[in-house]
Amino acid sequence: MKHDLETMYSVKGKVIVISGGSGGIGSGFARALLDLGATVVLLDHNEESLRRVSGELAACGAPVDTQTANITDYSSVEESFAQIYHRHGRIDGLVNCAGINIVKSLADLSADEYEQIIQVNLLGTVFCSKAASKYMLNAHKGRIVNISSLAATHGKPNYTAYTASKAAVNGFTFTLATELARKGITVNAISPVLIVTDINRNQIQNDPAYFENVVNMIPAGRVSEVEDIVGLLVFLLSDSSAFLTGQNIGCDGGAQNGDVGVIKPESYSA
Ligand SMILES: NC(=O)c1ccc[n+]([C@@H]2O[C@H](COP(=O)([O-])OP(=O)(O)OC[C@H]3O[C@@H](n4cnc5c(N)ncnc54)[C@H](O)[C@@H]3O)[C@@H](O)[C@H]2O)c1
Repeated sequence: MKHDLETMYSVKGKVIVISGGSGGIGSGFARALLDLGATVVLLDHNEESLRRVSGELAACGAPVDTQTANITDYSSVEESFAQIYHRHGRIDGLVNCAGINIVKSLADLSADEYEQIIQVNLLGTVFCSKAASKYMLNAHKGRIVNISSLAATHGKPNYTAYTASKAAVNGFTFTLATELARKGITVNAISPVLIVTDINRNQIQNDPAYFENVVNMIPAGRVSEVEDIVGLLVFLLSDSSAFLTGQNIGCDGGAQNGDVGVIKPESYSA
């Protein structure tokens, strides 16, 4: 068997839908996938940011398709994927990237706010996966990548809803992977560590010590950029990852399995 990098890790010609596609991470993913020759559909409920991001991408010579949908409403999601399929004739990959957070203690978080976080982060992921996998099942091929979080496995104050939603996304990932493993469809999660975007900008501005503490606990000694995750995403969307499914992969400068918040690596240098 002959190997070449271009076919092994290619997303060229694949139709990839990114939920939350006009957000900080989703739009960065879109740019990279467009550069690599994929057809990208940004799905988001925020029409204004969809217009802004698609305009910016088009201005860089990377035209992108957009789809407005509220991922907490299954009928809107089902109809949106039907429209995407109608326009492109296939759906090869889904990146579940839409997400929200409200940073409050359980005492202060209202029942509605708790529910909202679970609805977007968990049910939105479930609904998009259900709608997209219908087309992948017909094609006997597909890739689903869920953007989870280090927070799924690392509890921290004021994150009860976010952490629970992302831990549930991990469980959903492991289980859906077993359902689809014999159908040519892989389901994996990527867990990033902090990347500065709209989801956390206010928290970072209001509490600079928070940012510093996060940096201090990451073995790599810095927060993440979207670019840090792109290579892993491309691999998970490519044909080369066909036997890799049901995984939650931390792409986080080493933070998933260790932190350096207490003992700094330099303490041991000779
Ligand atoms: N930024 C980080 O530090 C970080 C770290 C770990 C995981 N994540 C996860 O990465 C994903 C992307 O986050 P981000 O940093 O780009 O945040 P972001 O706020 O920039 O983007 C989130 C996007 O989701 C969209 N969205 C929210 N609710 C929606 C709904 N009901 N229907 C459709 N779209 C909806 C928003 O309009 C927005 O475009 C999220 O799932 C987040 O939990 C982020």
